[in-house]
Amino acid sequence: MKLDGKVAVVTGGARGNGLAAAKLMAAEGADIVIADICENMKTIPYDLSTADTMEKAVAEIEAMDRRALGIKCDVRKAADVEAMVNKVIETFGKIDILVNNAGNSSMVAIAEMEEEVWDEVLDTHLKGTYLCCHFVLPHMIEQHSGNVISISSVGGQRGFGMGGHYCAAKHGIIGLNKSIAMEVADHNIRANVVCPGTVWTDMMQGIAGFFGMEDEEAKETFFAGHLKKEPEVTPEDIGQAVLWLASDDSRCITGNMITVDAGWTAQAP
Ligand SMILES: NC(=O)c1ccc[n+]([C@@H]2O[C@H](COP(=O)([O-])OP(=O)(O)OC[C@H]3O[C@@H](n4cnc5c(N)ncnc54)[C@H](O)[C@@H]3O)[C@@H](O)[C@H]2O)c1
Repeated sequence: MKLDGKVAVVTGGARGNGLAAAKLMAAEGADIVIADICENMKTIPYDLSTADTMEKAVAEIEAMDRRALGIKCDVRKAADVEAMVNKVIETFGKIDILVNNAGNSSMVAIAEMEEEVWDEVLDTHLKGTYLCCHFVLPHMIEQHSGNVISISSVGGQRGFGMGGHYCAAKHGIIGLNKSIAMEVADHNIRANVVCPGTVWTDMMQGIAGFFGMEDEEAKETFFAGHLKKEPEVTPEDIGQAVLWLASDDSRCITGNMITVDAGWTAQAP
C-alpha cells in the first residue's frame, strides 16, 4: 500500500472533496484525522457540516480498518488549529500528510461586499492554510519528512464575477504554496496544490440554491467551462490527485499544482 503507516490530517474532511481524499488515502493504508468546523457561518448561504456529518465520516473510515479521529476545528482560529495539531500528535505521535481542504463560498460583488463576507472566505481558505501549515510544519521539520497538499481552484487561476474573495484566496494559496515549498525542501517536505474545476458537492449545490437554480440549470451553468463534459468531475477525481501527491509516486514534485478541471483552463478565460 502506498501510504502504509502514514497519518493524514484533512481539514474540512467531513464531506465532499476532503472526505473523498481521506477515504482514498485510508484505502492506501493511512490513518485519518478529519478537522472540520461542524457549524454554520453567518455569511455563507448554505449549511456547513455538522457534528453528525463528521461522526459519519469517521465511521466510514473506521469501517475500512483504519484509525480515524474527528476533531471540531475552525481553521480560521489559531487556538483551534494549535489544539487540533496537539491532539493529533498526542493520539498518533506524528503528522505525515496535511491536506488543506476546508472551504466555503458566497457570491457577492466587491462593490457590495461587507467586510465580514470577505473575512469569512479569506480567513477560511488562506489564513486557514497558513495556520495549519504554521502549526504542522514544525512537527514535519522535526521528523525530517512530510507532505502538504492545499486545495485551490480554477478560481486560483482566473477570476469569477461575484467571487472576488474566493478567487483572491485561491490565487493566494498557490503563491503561499510556492513559498512554503522553498522553505521546507531541505527538510524533505513537499508542498503542492490541487485545483479542481466544478465538482457537484454541497458547496456548489449551496451556491445553486442561493441563486434559486434547479440542479439541471445550475449544472449547465457551473460545468459550462469544462471542455470534456463526460464523465463529470467527482470528489474522487480530486481525491486521486491528492493521493498521488501524498504518495512517493510524485516524489520529485514540489511547489507545483495539478489542475483537475476537464480542460477548463486550457481555454482563454
Ligand atoms: N466543489 C467545487 O466545485 C470546488 C471547486 C474548486 C475548489 N473546491 C474546493 O474544494 C474544497 C472542498 O470543498 P467542497 O466542494 O468539498 O465543499 P463542501 O462544502 O462539501 O466541504 C467543505 C468542508 O469544509 C468545512 N469547512 C468550511 N469552513 C471551515 C472552517 N473555517 N474550518 C474547518 N472546516 C471548514 C465544511 O464544514 C465542509 O465539511 C474547498 O477548498 C473548495 O474551495 C471545490
